[in-house]
Amino acid sequence: MTAEAAAPAPSNAVPTRPIPRRKGHWLWGCLFELTSDRSGFLIDKHSEHGDVFISRALVRDLLFVRDPAVVYAINVTHWADFYKPDYIKAMWKPFLGNGLVPNDGESWKRQHKLIMPGFHKRRVDTYAPTMVAFTERMIDRWKEGERRDMRLELNALALEVVASTLFDIDIGKEDSKTIREAIGDVSEILVVDADKTVPRPSWWPTASNRRKKRAIAKIENIIRRVHEERLAHRKDRGDLFSHMVFVEDEEGRMTDEQLRDEAMTLIFAGHETTAHALTWTWYLLARSPDNVARLRAELDQVVGDRPVEVDDLPNLPYLEMVVKESLRLLPSVWAYARQAQRDLVIEGYEIKKGQTVTISHIAMGRNPKYYEDPDEFRPERWTREFERSLPRGAYTPFAGGPRVCLGKQFAMMEMRMILATLVRRVEVNVPDGFEPDIVTELSMHPGKRGMPTDVHFR
Ligand code: HEM
Repeated sequence: MTAEAAAPAPSNAVPTRPIPRRKGHWLWGCLFELTSDRSGFLIDKHSEHGDVFISRALVRDLLFVRDPAVVYAINVTHWADFYKPDYIKAMWKPFLGNGLVPNDGESWKRQHKLIMPGFHKRRVDTYAPTMVAFTERMIDRWKEGERRDMRLELNALALEVVASTLFDIDIGKEDSKTIREAIGDVSEILVVDADKTVPRPSWWPTASNRRKKRAIAKIENIIRRVHEERLAHRKDRGDLFSHMVFVEDEEGRMTDEQLRDEAMTLIFAGHETTAHALTWTWYLLARSPDNVARLRAELDQVVGDRPVEVDDLPNLPYLEMVVKESLRLLPSVWAYARQAQRDLVIEGYEIKKGQTVTISHIAMGRNPKYYEDPDEFRPERWTREFERSLPRGAYTPFAGGPRVCLGKQFAMMEMRMILATLVRRVEVNVPDGFEPDIVTELSMHPGKRGMPTDVHFR
């Protein structure tokens, strides 16, 4: 045989890289490891198996990714090749319907185009004084020496902010409680349902399905009431909901059903995420008096005694560093998922049509390749040089590319306005020795034990 004959036939195939597999139990795979501690699973198993690994949950193979180049490709270069996974859409369906978060394809494009103008920076900036005023109002209700749960306080505050800025309603105590409890119920039940080995259809009259239906109906009633008010007055009041009621394209206005789904999505996506991100920031700061002192020094120098304004934000770099670091270490959106719409090879990894991919945001933030001492809360690391040195796709608390969080500007501003106002007026603390639980439902939060703080005014 000649040397030529022995050489392998030329091939155009792209060489592929093997994907490590976590085997888990022979029957249920990694299901129970994952569901018993989702964030811990992502952090630990990426450390063990690398930046891309695969594991099976019952019959479904799940691909887990924290490799920046792969994350960037999924979010940006190949975004149109990935949809939200079917099982997640099914989980969202009764709650968010076809709202922007679970929507895909042409329908998503239309809705996104209709709604996006409502999130223009100039418009969002006008919400800053409301965010500060509501925070002041919350603090004014507190009494020296009492114990408050920051998770509850910040959820109520973020909901008031969303209701006022996006829906132009001054939400009453009753409506606020109804929405928060209903969302809490839905969030808990949806995740329990998603983890069930044998999911039961939503029409099945189980106690949790009945509770979920009741919770959703309560929020729907509030949305219907506001919708009817807008239609009766035939007036765009300048808030986002008015914009959604009256905006038109060649296909006309949104249907009532689409409007309901988008409103539901904004109420949910717009308050829990921010409230929980702020709750974790509070906790991280409470354990780092030096960081609080540095933050206060910056605020004293730039803002002085007057209320913080949106124009101050570019002059408050440390405040931004604190928020960025908190979204790295304890992100409220701890992971997000996609499903491949065709066979692909990304960075050498073969991804088959139908494969679900979990982008392990919380594990990305703990990757020692990019973050020195990743378990430490170190806001100072977020210098411009450091950010420039991070590879694209290494930090995506708001996802990225066309499916990036629509409320990113809103949330980044809200977190800074609220935090600045709080830190200047009250001591940042949690009780000595308190360690919060980490509960990963639709967003990551400290669970029923909450985030206690003892109110001490400065
Ligand atoms: C700290 C706060 C927030 C975080 C960490 C966050 C994070 C995210 C992430 C990771 C996604 C992508 C989810 C996925 O692809 O499955 C997303 C989508 C979205 N978020 Fe946020 N979010 C926050 C606040 C907000 C706020 C305040 C609003 C609205 C006022 C909002 C509205 C949305 C919407 C509408 C989408 C869907 C965008 C689309 O696919 O077109 N979010 N968010």
